[in-house]
Amino acid sequence: MKKQARFLFCWLCLQVIFASVFSEDWGAAVVPSMNALVTSCVVVPCTFKYPGTELPDSRIREIWHEKADWKKIIYQEDKTEIVDSFKGRTKLLGRLGNKNCTLEIDEIKDYDNGPFCFRAEIPGQDKSKFSFVENCVSLSMMPDPDDPTLDHKEVLEDGVPTTFKCFVVHTCPSHPPTLTWSRANKDATTKNRHLSNGVWEIESLLTLTPTEQDDHTQLNCTASFHGGKKSLTSNRIYVKRK
Ligand SMILES: *[C@@H]1O[C@H](CO)[C@@H](O)[C@H](O)[C@H]1NC(C)=O
Repeated sequence: MKKQARFLFCWLCLQVIFASVFSEDWGAAVVPSMNALVTSCVVVPCTFKYPGTELPDSRIREIWHEKADWKKIIYQEDKTEIVDSFKGRTKLLGRLGNKNCTLEIDEIKDYDNGPFCFRAEIPGQDKSKFSFVENCVSLSMMPDPDDPTLDHKEVLEDGVPTTFKCFVVHTCPSHPPTLTWSRANKDATTKNRHLSNGVWEIESLLTLTPTEQDDHTQLNCTASFHGGKKSLTSNRIYVKRK
C-alpha cells in the first residue's frame, strides 16, 4: 500500500513536470486599460509565460517600456536604464518565480497615459528574445477621485442599530484609500476587494444606534487617497421616534 502511494505520487510529479515543459508558449496577459488617479498610484496586473523548462529568476529580464519607443524604459531591474521621468516611481510587485509582472507606478503625473508595454527577455539566447509589444496598458488620468457612495436606510428608528456602508473604487491596492466617518470611527470595519481587471473596491461598515437627537443631522464619509487627494459624501439622516 505504501509502495503504491509512493508510485502514484511520483507519477503525479512526472505529469506536472511534463505539463510545464511541453504545454507553454510565449505570452503575456496585461490589463489593456485602467484609470489612474493623479498623485496616487496604479497597480497594473500582469502575468506571463515562456516555453520550455522553468528558468532561474536571474536568467529572465523583465522590462516595461513606452509603446511609442521601446528604448524609453519605465521599469527595469537596472535602475540606470530607466528614463528620468520614471526613476523612483516604478516597482515590480509581482514575483518573477510566479511569472507575475504586476507593475506599480507611483506619484501618477497627468502625462502618464502610456501605453506601457511589458517585455520579457532571456539574455544570451538571441532566438528567444521576445517582445510582447501587443500587451500594453493605457492609463486614463483622473484629475480628481470619485466621491464615495454612502448607503443606508432612508428613515432610521430611534434606538434601533443600523449599518451604514461607504465604498469607493480605486486602482492602487498597494496603498488603498482610507475611509473615515464623521463619528464613531473606531467601530467601523474595512474590507478591500478586487472587482476585476485591477479595479478594487474598499468599503467601510459602521453600525450606529441613532437617537432622536440625530434626526436631521449630517453623516459624512471621507475617502483619503494615497498621494493626498480626498473626496467626501455627506448624507442627512432622519430618525423616526419610537
Ligand atoms: C501578482 O502579484 C500581485 C502583487 O503581489 C498579486 O496581488 C497578484 O495576486 C499576483 N497575481 C497572480 C495571478 O498571482
